[in-house]
Amino acid sequence: MQSIQANGYSIYFNESGYEAIQKIINENNYSSIFILVDENTNVFCLPKFLSLLATEIQIEIIEIEAGEEMKNITSCIEIWSILSELGADRKSVLINLGGGVITDLGGFIASTFKRGIDFINVPTSLLGMVDASIGGKNGVDIGNLKNQIGVISNPKMVVLDVEFLESLPQIQMRSGLAEMLKHGLIYDKKYWNQFLNLTDLNFDDLEILIYRSVEIKNEIVLQDPTENGIRKALNFGHTLGHAIESHFLDTTTPLLHGEAVAIGMILESYISKEQNMLTEIEYLEIKNTVLGLFGKHSISTNDIQNITGLLIHDKKNEYGKIQFALIKRIGEIIINQEASNELIMSSFHDYES
Ligand SMILES: NC(=O)c1ccc[n+]([C@@H]2O[C@H](COP(=O)([O-])OP(=O)(O)OC[C@H]3O[C@@H](n4cnc5c(N)ncnc54)[C@H](O)[C@@H]3O)[C@@H](O)[C@H]2O)c1
Ligand SMILES: [Zn+2]
Repeated sequence: MQSIQANGYSIYFNESGYEAIQKIINENNYSSIFILVDENTNVFCLPKFLSLLATEIQIEIIEIEAGEEMKNITSCIEIWSILSELGADRKSVLINLGGGVITDLGGFIASTFKRGIDFINVPTSLLGMVDASIGGKNGVDIGNLKNQIGVISNPKMVVLDVEFLESLPQIQMRSGLAEMLKHGLIYDKKYWNQFLNLTDLNFDDLEILIYRSVEIKNEIVLQDPTENGIRKALNFGHTLGHAIESHFLDTTTPLLHGEAVAIGMILESYISKEQNMLTEIEYLEIKNTVLGLFGKHSISTNDIQNITGLLIHDKKNEYGKIQFALIKRIGEIIINQEASNELIMSSFHDYES
């Protein structure tokens, strides 16, 4: 598979990725290599990764617990301290081997340690591959407010080894799938159509779909790296999705990122329809496809109140106004759209009905 050129770095696939890492390590003459993993990627991904990395340079492994709860400033302080204690310097490189939590956290740690050291993303979850590891956004949460602190800073390269997905739990696969559906909805109707009758995916099909998702995300980011315009399209489903994710984080029924985004996409499609963009038929196609893949999550009146209260923290807000990226028709997005409170409420009621 051809590598994809991103903003000053390349995204490599499978075997060619390991060759590229090898090359960059040799060329940059790094003083030491640090690999950030979580408890799962340490077991399931690190052995393969290390077996394909032939180098004389000293390698240190830093392992953290798995989970979104780790994506906070306390973890950063711990890992910055470990890097210091282990003698990391400005010529060290950090390899982030894991899902979106590891690449978001590791990217932020590397970008700020000694005012910035090189980092390489090796995503191991589907969501990491099609979304989190590319585009240069990284950072941490504050409490249950997502991604409130961070920087835009690009990795030296991204290496995407689809084989890592073999150990990824099914529920995590589905979470990544939500972002792939999003890519079709906002950018490529033909791509969306491929998900309409999705039953069982074989690995070869999946690889091709992943490749297209990476292309779409990358094309959008290249047009607008700092999110002043079109990059906001990638937030489709996320204005409400993030608030839903934050709200359920503390409950007995927490949602994965992609699960929350799946709900957000249905709600924001409804808003798009009510604003005379999507047709009823297109809306129902989206709703039924997403519900078919994700099922329905019960959202009570209390939940809705809390969720809408959280919208005020959305990073797209400008001058206190909540901004949506809405769908004009499948494959086409319009950014900077507003929606009344009543409309937001009725999107939840329609979801529940
Ligand atoms: N920076 C961005 O542009 C961007 C975009 C989308 C999402 N994100 C962030 O990504 C995060 C979510 O990413 P995620 O869903 O990958 O979460 P994650 O990193 O928590 O990974 C999900 C789970 O899968 C496990 N795992 C990962 N790879 C595995 C493998 N190959 N085999 C077995 N287990 C494996 C992890 O240990 C974890 O338990 C969120 O914090 C979200 O905000 C960032
Ligand atoms: Zn997302």
